[in-house]
Amino acid sequence: MLPHPTGVLSDLDRVLLDAPSIQSRIAAMAREVAADFDGKVITVIAIMDGGLFFVADLLRAIDLPMRLVTMSASSYHGTTKSSGQVHLPWPASLDLKDQHVLLLDDILDTGLTLGAVQDRLKQEGAATIRTGVLLKKRREHAREVAVDYVGFEIEDEFVVGYGMDYQGRFRNLPCIGILRP
Ligand code: IMP
Ligand code: MG
Repeated sequence: MLPHPTGVLSDLDRVLLDAPSIQSRIAAMAREVAADFDGKVITVIAIMDGGLFFVADLLRAIDLPMRLVTMSASSYHGTTKSSGQVHLPWPASLDLKDQHVLLLDDILDTGLTLGAVQDRLKQEGAATIRTGVLLKKRREHAREVAVDYVGFEIEDEFVVGYGMDYQGRFRNLPCIGILRP
């Protein structure tokens, strides 16, 4: 059983993706990424905090030289609905000119966050921009963004766990689930 005896899991209505399913899908994604970037040095732009565990697991399965840049960007502010506003503080000394960038985030929902980051990566002169998400919601995206790697497509429901939060909680769940209403 999963190591949460005191009840984080008990707040879930149901588990959508269990830990082994997540891990085996990530291993397959890592092989795809490694094949696409073969012979290159990757600059990974990882969107925090939601992408924390996805990025950690994916990157450790990719046997290519890389550097890692974390960023905070979000269109959510502690609720279950997108605010439509993207906050994107940019690291001061980041030089992406001619770099091969792998942009990673936990989930593609409205598309506003990844769209904003992709715009900025283009402005900064990246040579390659490939984007990966663990989850993509089946919904109309406020902004259609090009995504090269998708772990799982899910219905348009609010999910928590494996990095994703509701009001700061549930990130530490090893699985991904739907909260009880
Ligand atoms: P977007 O800009 O609407 O695509 O949203 C992206 C960000 O919102 C993601 O990086 C997540 O951090 C957060 N988010 C979107 N959907 C969910 C969800 O179902 N659960 C938790 N966080 C979510
Ligand atoms: Mg996020």
